[in-house]
Order: sequence, then C-alpha cells, then structure tokens
Amino acid sequence: MTKMSEFNIALIKGDGIGPEIVNGAVTVLDAVAEKYGHKFNYTDVLMGGCAIDATGVPLPQETIDICKASDSVLLGAVGGPKWDNCPQRPEKGLLGIRKALGLYSNLRPSILKPQLKDASPLKDEKLKNGLNVMVVRELTGGIYFGERKNAEDGSWASDEERYSVEEVKRIGKIAFETAMLRDKRVVSVDKANVLDSSKLWRRTMDELAKEYPEVTLSHMYVDNAAMQLAINPAQFDVICTSNIFGDILSDLSSAIAGSIGMLPSASLGASKCGMYEPIHGSAPDIAGQDKANPIATIVSAAMMLEMSFGLIDEAKAINDAVDKVLNMDYRTPDIYSEGMKKVGCKEMAALIAKNI
Ligand code: IPM
Ligand code: MG
Repeated sequence: MTKMSEFNIALIKGDGIGPEIVNGAVTVLDAVAEKYGHKFNYTDVLMGGCAIDATGVPLPQETIDICKASDSVLLGAVGGPKWDNCPQRPEKGLLGIRKALGLYSNLRPSILKPQLKDASPLKDEKLKNGLNVMVVRELTGGIYFGERKNAEDGSWASDEERYSVEEVKRIGKIAFETAMLRDKRVVSVDKANVLDSSKLWRRTMDELAKEYPEVTLSHMYVDNAAMQLAINPAQFDVICTSNIFGDILSDLSSAIAGSIGMLPSASLGASKCGMYEPIHGSAPDIAGQDKANPIATIVSAAMMLEMSFGLIDEAKAINDAVDKVLNMDYRTPDIYSEGMKKVGCKEMAALIAKNI
C-alpha cells in the first residue's frame, strides 16, 4: 500500500451531462481514497455556459486562479444550444483554460476493449488485430489560437494556422517519449503536400527523431491517416499531430474503439498540474436523465492519479474495476447491446466504485 497523500482537485463540472459524469468520477475517486488511505479535496469552479449564466463570461478569473492553485483539474464538458448565440461561447472557456494553464500536450488513448467489439462501427475483420493508439495532439497552438479576421461587411473570414519550431519540438518530444514507453513507433500526421506550417512540422519532427534512435518515425498526410484508421487501425502506436488534425482524428479513433463515451484524455504542460477530461461533449439531449456514460470521465480520473499524482496502483485499480463491471455485462445506453444489463450513469459509477 502506498503512502497516504493529500491532493487538491478542481472540479469543472460544466454543462449538459458534465455534472453527472463528474459526480460519477468523484464517487470512484472517493472509493480509491478510502481503500488506499488518501485524501482528495474537491473545489467546484465554474466554466462554460453555467459560468456565462452566473458571471457573464465563460471563464471567470477565479476559475483560473483556483485551477492554478490545485494539484489537478477534472473537467466534465461545456457547451449547449442555449449559449449558441452568446457573444462569447462556452467553448471559449475551454480554450482559455488550456492556454492559461499552458496545457500544450493532449494525450488521447483509444483502446478497443474486447467487451465492446460489437459497439465498434468497423467489421470484425478490420478489428482482428485490435486498436491501441495514443493520439498526441498539440493543444495550445495552430488554427485554434491563430489570428482571426472578419471583413466588416461579413463577406469573408479567416483563421490562421501557424506553428513555431519550438511548439512542434515540445509536442514532438512528448510523442517520442510516449512511444518509448509503448511500441516505439510515431506517425506524425500533417498536410505537408499543401501547407507550409506542415512542412515546418515535418522538418522539425525529422530533426527531433535523431534524439530518439530507438523510435521509428514515419509521416502521413492527414487525409490518408483518416483512411488508414478506418481500414487498418492496428497499424498505429503513437500519432503526433496538430491541434485541429488531432481534434478530428481523435473523434475517429474513439468511434472505432466503440463509443466516444469510453475515452479519456490528459492535457499537460510544463508542471505536474494537468487537466483531465472525457473527449466527448456535453450531450445536452440526454442531460439530467441519468443516461450518460461516466466511464470516460472515470478513466480520465485514473489518468490523473497516474500522470499527475504518481498513484500507479490506484489508477490501475480504477481501470481494472471498469473492466470487471463490463465483464459483468453492465452497460450504459451508448454501449448497450442485446442481452446486456442496462444501467444509468449513477449506477455505473457506483458499480465501478464498489469494485475498487
Ligand atoms: C475537444 C473538443 C473541443 C476542441 C471543443 C469543445 C472546443 O472538441 O476537446 O476535442 O475542439 O478542442
Ligand atoms: Mg473534439
């Protein structure tokens, strides 16, 4: 048993299903604390639509301050049709907190669990070699943060895709180091046949690869990478790519793994304080109905324990509990198939907590 430790966790529950899934993760974290003798202190902070309603802005300064003072941040989801026409959308809060905390690297693992094979849209034949890919997405640069321009008369708009060598180097390093702990293969995804920013990306990755002689680096254009994920997903180990390409490819890889409701992510920067969140959105259509799948948030909390707090056994206990509950055939509606036991968000979280 590890030494008793105390950690401060900022909770950004957000909008839609956000509060339900974060509460589910807290139920599981509390079970971990109890079993391993740790103390997790939680502070709720506002971001997204709920912050707009309460304070007029999607990312209040207080939220940034509390997150910065915490050991890590656990996030549900933000956004919803209610705020679509606000001058500042809820998503601006998410981009703002990523930038404010300097979280330039976003790790999005997609693993096909055997229990969920039927939930994948791919045929068995395409899945026979499995799927275990880590998308390493650059998170604080590129077109998400480039200059935006709008014609006064509304006749055009533009968004700038811009990367510096330094930005590519630091995310590339994360990809190579991640690969060193896995199968030692990095596919760098770009559009270097068209974009200068991608040519710089490719050149920088080639340069960096010299520092990691054990890792095999290859390059793929993003359109081909999308196709390759759909026809032969097992070929990938680590994918390293830009903010926008990573956004798109990680939705695709998560769908292949069965459901976007299963997949976690970690956003990290220079310090140990990271932000952990499911890769799915706020699903306003099912909010408040106890139908959401809390597993992505629960396994995001496991990533937090492992990557920010160094609690490896505890993280494994969560992942094992998730597997156990899936093996007992419990399923939330998004991953339900005939013959399984359908449960809601609360019950799924309680079952996982019970199996810690
Ligand atoms: C994600 C989301 C966000 C993104 C949105 C909500 C701004 O799609 O985390 O993948 O595009 O980064
Ligand atoms: Mg996305």
